[in-house]
Amino acid sequence: MWYTARPVKAMDSTTPTYSGTADYIAAPDLMQTVDVAVALGRPLLIKGEPGTGKTMLAQSIAHALAKPLIVWNIKSTTKAQDGLYVYDTVQRLYDGQFGDHDVCDIAAYIKLGKLGEAFSHPERVVLLIDEIDKADLEFPNDLLWELDQMEFFIPETRQTVRAGQRPIVVITSNAEKELPDAFLRRCVFHFIEFPDPATMRRIVRVHHPDLEDGLLDSALESFYRLREVQGLQKKPSTSELIDWVQALAIAGVEPARISARMPFLGVLLKKDKDVEAARRDMAGGRTGRGT
Ligand SMILES: Nc1ncnc2c1ncn2[C@@H]1O[C@H](COP(=O)(O)OP(=O)(O)OP(=O)(O)O)[C@@H](O)[C@H]1O
Ligand SMILES: [Mg+2]
Repeated sequence: MWYTARPVKAMDSTTPTYSGTADYIAAPDLMQTVDVAVALGRPLLIKGEPGTGKTMLAQSIAHALAKPLIVWNIKSTTKAQDGLYVYDTVQRLYDGQFGDHDVCDIAAYIKLGKLGEAFSHPERVVLLIDEIDKADLEFPNDLLWELDQMEFFIPETRQTVRAGQRPIVVITSNAEKELPDAFLRRCVFHFIEFPDPATMRRIVRVHHPDLEDGLLDSALESFYRLREVQGLQKKPSTSELIDWVQALAIAGVEPARISARMPFLGVLLKKDKDVEAARRDMAGGRTGRGT
């Protein structure tokens, strides 16, 4: 069973609640899901288009709940064991031959990974496992026990590393690979919907509080129109919009001229075919808008 050892804590007044932060705009349903995951003590699995704030959510949760943040960036070569601990046998061998260290102390050669750090931290931490879908398919399954029990055993030292306080685990995925069902069953899931224009306006304002209203209006209108151009392989996202409005502001582009000229298109679109499609659209071709 998932929670035989630690009963699920009901949400009550002692459960810290998350309501975004000054630098991160969270939709109400996202805030609620964060609260549920924290209260249940289950990993929060976040999916959404690239650039929609998945990674930053973990930073925001840590900030809002005043918890330390530990980040485990997953790569294609990352193994579950890397997150637990590494036994540095090479260093021990080296010290045995050339050093004056006491090589009998095996614990000195055990280096905790990010999961180990999170479990052994004196405070309750937020642990971000970023881009879990980059690793191989076995990776999530290999962590089931550890994320369930929040402990692991180090045979070399016969020690158990056990979380004093269950970390708040945030896992992000760009859905490059499907995650195993056994893993999904243990998570609370949330898909970050692409922000509507009103929310996007607030997000951009967080990053550029002094931006002129006219420029922002015009940039937003062109941005959402661009996202609807038919056949785009990679639609521009929040992070690209944030960069684009900054470029527009620095260059002092007239708001009225943005939609016709779409300056600095390369900040928004990163594929030549997409740039071509956008240029065709601007030249009076079909926009392919849904309605
Ligand atoms: N809701 C938001 N509030 C404030 N800033 C946001 C929000 N969403 C995205 N951003 C900004 O967009 C940028 C990208 O965010 P982030 O890196 O968290 O996206 P991501 O979903 O993790 O992207 P990827 O899938 O490429 O890793 C950051 O600069 C962040 O500040
Ligand atoms: Mg990210």
